[in-house]
Amino acid sequence: MTSVELAGIQKSFGSVKALDGINLAIHDGENFAILGPSGSGKSTLLRVIAGLEDADAGTVSFGGVPQSNVPPHLRDAAIVFQHFALYPHLSSLENITLGLRHGLGLPKQEAENRAREVASRMQVEHLLPRKPKEMSGGQRQRIALARALARRSGIVLLDEPLSGLDAQLHAVLRLEIASLLRSVGATGINVTHDQLDAMAMADRIAVINHGRIEQLGTPDELYAVPETLFVASFIGSPAMNLLPVDAASAMSAFGRHRVEAGQDITLGVRAEDLQLVPTPDEPARHADDRFWSITGTVGLVEPTGKDRVVQLLTGTGQPLAFRCEVAQTPAIGARATVACQASAVHAYSTTDGRRLGSAEAAGVLLESEAFA
Ligand SMILES: Nc1ncnc2c1ncn2[C@@H]1O[C@H](COP(=O)(O)OP(=O)(O)OP(=O)(O)O)[C@@H](O)[C@H]1O
Ligand SMILES: [Mg+2]
Repeated sequence: MTSVELAGIQKSFGSVKALDGINLAIHDGENFAILGPSGSGKSTLLRVIAGLEDADAGTVSFGGVPQSNVPPHLRDAAIVFQHFALYPHLSSLENITLGLRHGLGLPKQEAENRAREVASRMQVEHLLPRKPKEMSGGQRQRIALARALARRSGIVLLDEPLSGLDAQLHAVLRLEIASLLRSVGATGINVTHDQLDAMAMADRIAVINHGRIEQLGTPDELYAVPETLFVASFIGSPAMNLLPVDAASAMSAFGRHRVEAGQDITLGVRAEDLQLVPTPDEPARHADDRFWSITGTVGLVEPTGKDRVVQLLTGTGQPLAFRCEVAQTPAIGARATVACQASAVHAYSTTDGRRLGSAEAAGVLLESEAFA
């Protein structure tokens, strides 16, 4: 096991700033995820950690030891690439042992013993004689992973190891990888653009955008309190509803607010926090000072199996997603009212995207409440 410390990592490619001041401390034995959209700098960060790319500035340390003078093959890190490459003319066994023999200099027998040990742990012993073209995509992925784990590095770096797999295999493999990393006691750093992968696999997640860390936290923390509009729109399925408060009229889909002059606010509320009100167009019956409501017309209805995700077209023309039970789902085109506890509404500064607090805490009260 080894911890990973990143301090002030900068990396540009010409005018593109791929990494813009990354500071991170990843604990010994932690399952860590780096989550971000395409082009956010995820692969570059992994390559810098592995030593395959030199940072323009900043320090990578393993267990407190700076790695700047340690070449990639001597670093205690194994990497599984985004487009992993198994040698097509070699069997799985040879693919796994090749790096052990030439990279780590292990004798043939010891390399094979290690390959068999990791293959047995991963339940892929039967694949050892096969060449890549004789295996499915998921099987090849497992062998690529076995090849990395066989190095017995303290740190395993995974760059989108599940991309291109079907949803079912994807869901199985991500749990398998997470438990495998735990069982070998490695520090795992998994790069992904898929929030469900990150949530399922990681003890902690760093959300990255434009080469900067937007937020660092446990999956639950990121879901409950997204600190920026970007994280709010990236974590959760469906994504958090974001409702701008019109600066001139102080109106949002909830109604008229009391907002301090000059404040540009976006409100956020999760589909899970909105509840269908039984009597549409009569929110007053339901409303008290703890509930905010929105009335609109039902647009799309998306079945999830367990419940429905309903899109409500609000008076401001903005779609709003809420969840409701199958039996209570209103018809498309019907009027419907949803309500949530005022404390469940987040307030963000539209200007810099930072979370100001709950709407109540940030003083973005509804006018009816503020002057009641
Ligand atoms: N070798 C390179 N030369 C020039 N630009 C590069 C190079 N590698 C990466 N970039 C640029 O740096 C930025 C970050 O790239 P990176 O590959 O790290 O993103 P990513 O988050 O891994 O994206 P994806 O999810 O698509 O794999 C992008 O704008 C990319 O075009
Ligand atoms: Mg990438």
